Amino acid sequence: MGTLGHRAAIVGAGHTRFGVLDAGPRTLLRNAVDGAFASVDRGAERRRVGEAFLATLGFGGWQIGNASAVLDEEAGLVGVPTTRVENACASGGFALRAGVRALEEGRTDLVLVAGVEKMTDLRAPRRRYWLGVSGDTEWERLAGLTFAGVYGLIASDYVHRYPSARDALAEVAVKNHENGSRNPNAHFQKRILREDVLRATRVADPLGLFDCCPVSDGAAALLLARADRAREFTDTPVYIDGLGAGSDRLAVQERPDLTRFTATQRAAEEAFRDAELARDRIHLLEVHDCFTIAELLALEDLGFVGPGGAVDLTLSGATRAGGRLPVNPDGGLKAKGHPIGATGVSQAYEIFLQLRAAAGGRQVPGAETALAHNVGGAGATATVTLFSRG
Ligand code: COA
Repeated sequence: MGTLGHRAAIVGAGHTRFGVLDAGPRTLLRNAVDGAFASVDRGAERRRVGEAFLATLGFGGWQIGNASAVLDEEAGLVGVPTTRVENACASGGFALRAGVRALEEGRTDLVLVAGVEKMTDLRAPRRRYWLGVSGDTEWERLAGLTFAGVYGLIASDYVHRYPSARDALAEVAVKNHENGSRNPNAHFQKRILREDVLRATRVADPLGLFDCCPVSDGAAALLLARADRAREFTDTPVYIDGLGAGSDRLAVQERPDLTRFTATQRAAEEAFRDAELARDRIHLLEVHDCFTIAELLALEDLGFVGPGGAVDLTLSGATRAGGRLPVNPDGGLKAKGHPIGATGVSQAYEIFLQLRAAAGGRQVPGAETALAHNVGGAGATATVTLFSRG
């Protein structure tokens, strides 16, 4: 594909460790942004950045209004137009989309996109409250339903339809923890066994502790350039070729089928149409596995397999690091962690490394194309982004 077919390019990316960290959101943002600037091969002057986007839920209420001004302060960009993007766990994917659109509109030729969340400094009841704010308030939250509860309902329905799915859920957890063990930025870097998953404390049946993503702190940042300017910054840009986004009803009980995320389906159709790419050309996936069931649904909703097909695909080992379709080589939300606003940005960070053959011990050999899939809450919002190597 020539430069004309590319929407934009990533020319730099930074990432903090994800996990239980001492730092606050400002420090996390500063570190991720400094990392992004430092990673630009030929350097990028801060004054060239014409617009900035911050993805954050503002967990704990750290800066509910005007949080994007904090990004500009910490990035040394005071004065530059800046916008906060909040779509729960999909904030990062939507911020990336907004950054690409700003470049396409010609407003600037260099954009900063960052995501941050500080989650672990709250006591358990406040944590539960802030985890719940992105669910349906009238029916779900007030009835006491948590996200683990919603995904537990979805998993129950799915396991009822496809009985060997319980094994596939365990395989997702084992695989993603194994991948996380090769990622120095991951919240969890220890391997687990299938028995650990199956014997773990139940959180929301059939989901246990190892079926859930953790509550994490962290930040990630990207520098996006116009596609035709990318080589001023690096010989190895990673291009964004397809953007897709969608939405669904907020409350899951309003949906005809619990096991289908139509926001993902719509986003995937749009992204593949946009990039004029077939699914069999994709070399690796970063999908939104906030709970193990979500990875199975993603493989189906993204169109890589039909309904129920994710069970056999996962159990075959195809989605493991050495398989034919590696999924979440960085450990995914499950093991890398899920600092809400940072997650979608972090997925693009991983793809930036992978497509530049710079992912070290977790490198997917020969990776030239990739897909990132970011979901808000239990599927109310979603983005799909397609990338290729320069
Ligand atoms: N996977 C694996 N281990 C986990 C874990 C997870 N998701 N969450 C916590 N742990 C570990 C901790 O590291 C700790 O281990 P240690 O005793 O060796 O130090 C232990 O389990 C207890 O940790 P704690 O933080 O007290 O767990 P918790 O019971 O308060 O929380 C969950 C566990 C699953 C409830 C919590 O991680 C959670 O709510 N996850 C979902 C987050 C979410 O909904 N995000 C939005 C998605 S849409």
